[in-house]
Amino acid sequence: MSENSLTSRGNWSSRMAFILAAAGSAVGLGNIWKFPYMTGENGGGAFVIVYLACIAVIGVPIMMAEVFVGRNGQRNPVASMRLVAERNLSNPAWRLSAIIGVLAAFMILSFYSVIGGWSASYVMHSGMGDFAGQDADAVGAIFSALLASPGILLFWHTVFMALVIFVVSRGLKSGLERAVKILMPALFLLLLVVVGYATTTGHFMESLDFLFTPDFSKLTWDAVLQALGQAFFTMSLGMAIMMAYGSYLGRDVSIGRAAVGVGIMDTLVALLAGLAIFPFVFANGLEAGQGPGLIFVTLPLAFGQMPLGVFFATLFFVLLLFAAWTSGISLLEPVTEWVEEKMAITRTGAAILAGVACWLLGVASILSLNVWSDVYLLGMFERFETTGILDLLDFFTANIMLPLSGLLTALFVGWCVAKESLQADMAMSDGMFTLWRNLLRYVTPIAVLAVFIYNLL
Ligand code: PFF
Ligand code: NA
Repeated sequence: MSENSLTSRGNWSSRMAFILAAAGSAVGLGNIWKFPYMTGENGGGAFVIVYLACIAVIGVPIMMAEVFVGRNGQRNPVASMRLVAERNLSNPAWRLSAIIGVLAAFMILSFYSVIGGWSASYVMHSGMGDFAGQDADAVGAIFSALLASPGILLFWHTVFMALVIFVVSRGLKSGLERAVKILMPALFLLLLVVVGYATTTGHFMESLDFLFTPDFSKLTWDAVLQALGQAFFTMSLGMAIMMAYGSYLGRDVSIGRAAVGVGIMDTLVALLAGLAIFPFVFANGLEAGQGPGLIFVTLPLAFGQMPLGVFFATLFFVLLLFAAWTSGISLLEPVTEWVEEKMAITRTGAAILAGVACWLLGVASILSLNVWSDVYLLGMFERFETTGILDLLDFFTANIMLPLSGLLTALFVGWCVAKESLQADMAMSDGMFTLWRNLLRYVTPIAVLAVFIYNLL
């Protein structure tokens, strides 16, 4: 009997299935919606370099640490953290990292679902040919009209959340594996098609230059904080998700290789999204720093001019919706597990309760886009003077809660887990193991703390 079959947890059917599920969580709106607009707002190349460094030096090592805790503990994230801590004679309070994560997942899903709803409404707009042959102003007007209508936003937010609750209430393994196996490659291919078309705009070189030629004079500390936060957000870190998925991972799989695989896939999708979007931004004289609306204006515009545009646009937004769906599922999962355990109710009951609570908070985000558009909760602080609830939730989770939770996990695995047992589980070469452990022990904590401290001052 293999060691795996001794545990009560089911296992992924293959190493690839784990990678795809983790990639299904990682690849989402963070790559296609958030990465391009943040890059645009922060001036391009220098931001991208810092972001890539954060992924390689902080993101991948922390993902490995989270997967390690899950696989070693073989329980839900909070219980796994406690168990691994006890095994290593450490304080069970380390599980705070998983608790912060569950809270952050709840807050993120509330607005993630609103943006997921935008994607769903765009499936309908593109299917009906609303973007065909339109100019930038007309496409921009469709987007503004969406943001201005609480009823329509509420409808799509509800549809998205219902889709998420549906899958989570049924248990995430069966459907999820099958779905990501088809959807991830399809999304990837379609992005390649759009990038291919983007090379014909005459502004492809300019975009390469924008994305990859760093101008460090444009880099602010605020941008560094954002790059770090985006690295956590995009790789689904600091939220105990990789612990949960890791608990289903077979003992024979190399955690290091799996994490690098997920990191590469996630990064490729983000960069492809950038290369798909910016040529159309420049070709149409649009504003690279226009913010969250970027892909909802530039891509429809591009598709509207492209041969077979209605077909490709519809397909694209369907895939974006699926990418958001698999990420949304992974966000509701930890909250549901937690509610299920704390309140001792069924999984379906827990998924509905957690999902409806999230949905309610999402309604506040929707109203912040229109009815409450001039209500600023923390308006007394200079930084938040023009920030509504949606941006506030986004800011606090990505820039504070996720890095904090990730920091605790890195400190715990780097300093508290006995070296021998850690090395036995990781099965890496001595050199790579030492490098990884030192990244967790020194580099990650110092980097995260430095950015925090800077930001507090
Ligand atoms: N990683 C997802 C994205 O980039 O869209 C978002 C996300 C999913 C963040 C799950 C966090 C998470 F736990
Ligand atoms: Na991502």
